[in-house]
Amino acid sequence: MGKIELLQMGSYPVWDQEALDADYVMHRYFDMPDQVGFLAETGPRLRGIASRGDLGASGALMAALPALEIISLYGVGYDAVDLPAARARRIRVTNTPDVLTGDVADLAVAMWLMARRRLAEAEVWARSGQWAGAGFPLTRRAFGGRAGILGLGRIGRAIGERLAGFGMAVSYCSRAEKPTPGWTYSADPVALAAGCDVLFVATAATAQTRHVVNAAVLAALGPDGILVNISRAANVDEAALMAALLGGTLGGAALDVFEGEPGYDPALRGVPGLVMLPHIGSATVETRRAMGQLMRDNLAAHFAGQPLLTPVA
Ligand code: 8YV
Repeated sequence: MGKIELLQMGSYPVWDQEALDADYVMHRYFDMPDQVGFLAETGPRLRGIASRGDLGASGALMAALPALEIISLYGVGYDAVDLPAARARRIRVTNTPDVLTGDVADLAVAMWLMARRRLAEAEVWARSGQWAGAGFPLTRRAFGGRAGILGLGRIGRAIGERLAGFGMAVSYCSRAEKPTPGWTYSADPVALAAGCDVLFVATAATAQTRHVVNAAVLAALGPDGILVNISRAANVDEAALMAALLGGTLGGAALDVFEGEPGYDPALRGVPGLVMLPHIGSATVETRRAMGQLMRDNLAAHFAGQPLLTPVA
């Protein structure tokens, strides 16, 4: 029997690519000049999609693959997968939870410190000649304050745990109250924002959470407040965020995710108090290796008729 054929939506590190190429025929969709022609000719043979959290799989793509059985994601977020379309055809979907939690939480805390202590600007200052002329402007203390976490899943919880070391009072907002080590539940994002100095956005993106961080939440966070988003850009109203930073009604923000990434609105570059990172929450060698392994293990389990390790659907 020949190798199973998969559609590959984006690039992977070389170690994953080699491992996938060894076990499957990988069709690199992202490199194809004629995707439509390819799907018409080869689509009926493809039994799986290997994708990423940022790339997902659309319902239209699934419709072009009549033999599709599984979509295996490299990433925890599955908002880019048309889940209803997958469910309607009993196409299995898997993601890579847990293995990336620690790195994303680390980055969230680092982003808060960057924004609060203005570390990126201070670094540029230190390299430039400015240091000799005057000291870097004073910033605001980070430890001992009040943190809000929007979305208390695995990553939100890991952020809260790290904040204990900073002596932060932690409150959170999620669909339901959860058992926590003394953290305060808030049912409403505006109330959450009003009671914290830094708001971490760690909720999965759904139709319901689109722009959950809106002008009202940003106003509640206030001129000393900091917003950190390590989830998905769609959870934050980027235009409202820009307006708040430009108007001085928000203290600062740090984003690891952007609308239209890897592109983004170039106007963001000039916004004061904004830390911009290129979606690197899970981007360490250790975590990316574990993500690749889990993505491949899910594929292998499926094609061996075994239970999936981390199914979404
Ligand atoms: C990556 C992510 O961007 O896990 C996610 O949902 O956003 C990230 O880990 C991605 O999936 C890898 O390209």
